Amino acid sequence: MKRAVLKETKITNLEEFNWIEYFEYNNKNLLKLDYTNNKELTEEEINLIAPSIKAFQLGEGSQGKHLTKVVEEYAKKTNYKDYPEIMKWFIIEENRHSQTLKKFMEIYNIKPVQKLSVDNIFRILRKLMGIECEVIVLVTAEMVALSYYTALSNSTGSTLLKTICTQMLNDELKHVVLQSATLHRISKNRNKTTNNIIRFIRKILMNLTVFVVGHKFKNLFLKGGYSYKEFKNHCREYLEESISIEKTGKL
Ligand SMILES: [Fe+2]
Ligand SMILES: [Fe+2]
Repeated sequence: MKRAVLKETKITNLEEFNWIEYFEYNNKNLLKLDYTNNKELTEEEINLIAPSIKAFQLGEGSQGKHLTKVVEEYAKKTNYKDYPEIMKWFIIEENRHSQTLKKFMEIYNIKPVQKLSVDNIFRILRKLMGIECEVIVLVTAEMVALSYYTALSNSTGSTLLKTICTQMLNDELKHVVLQSATLHRISKNRNKTTNNIIRFIRKILMNLTVFVVGHKFKNLFLKGGYSYKEFKNHCREYLEESISIEKTGKL
């Protein structure tokens, strides 16, 4: 199966890229979503997609106070003046993703969940350390989300769900580039050994996430055209792309 690649974001000069302008533009040019038709899915399809949609709806809306705090600290320390506003926009988009999924769930009577063990692990991990830890955990989840929304889009014939997934893929590709560029800022003046250790940790975290998500939502991925192996390979390829940006600062 074909996967979206980070180059599709068409960002040519990452260093000069104006994230605030992009977010403002993106926010004004969202795909139109029509929530009036709740006849696109069969009972069987609803049961297939419900568990994973509930999990992603919760995860999408989980960025908050701790992230804002570490972003502000990092911006002050490194004199990266735009960063708080960039990340404010990022959080707005994630909350929109969560709201979009919630509205979709509502038309099919899929009840949202308050707590999930996987989501809790992500929340705890993110708060363990400072900005770098937050960003690494975020970008790992976002790279897995790229494969998930591709599978979700393919798993049914629903036009609404496909449009939602197209918007998600558009936004998440940019997010992955943004977080990878931040990791470049953090690592560029640091010693090689530390950077190699962090990259190794990122690989372990990705493998663990793929294992948990791939097994928990195996049926959805299969219906969406992903074997476990293919899902794993796509996630690893995204990680390679992200690490390449982290190393070079270029796409
Ligand atoms: Fe998102
Ligand atoms: Fe995202």
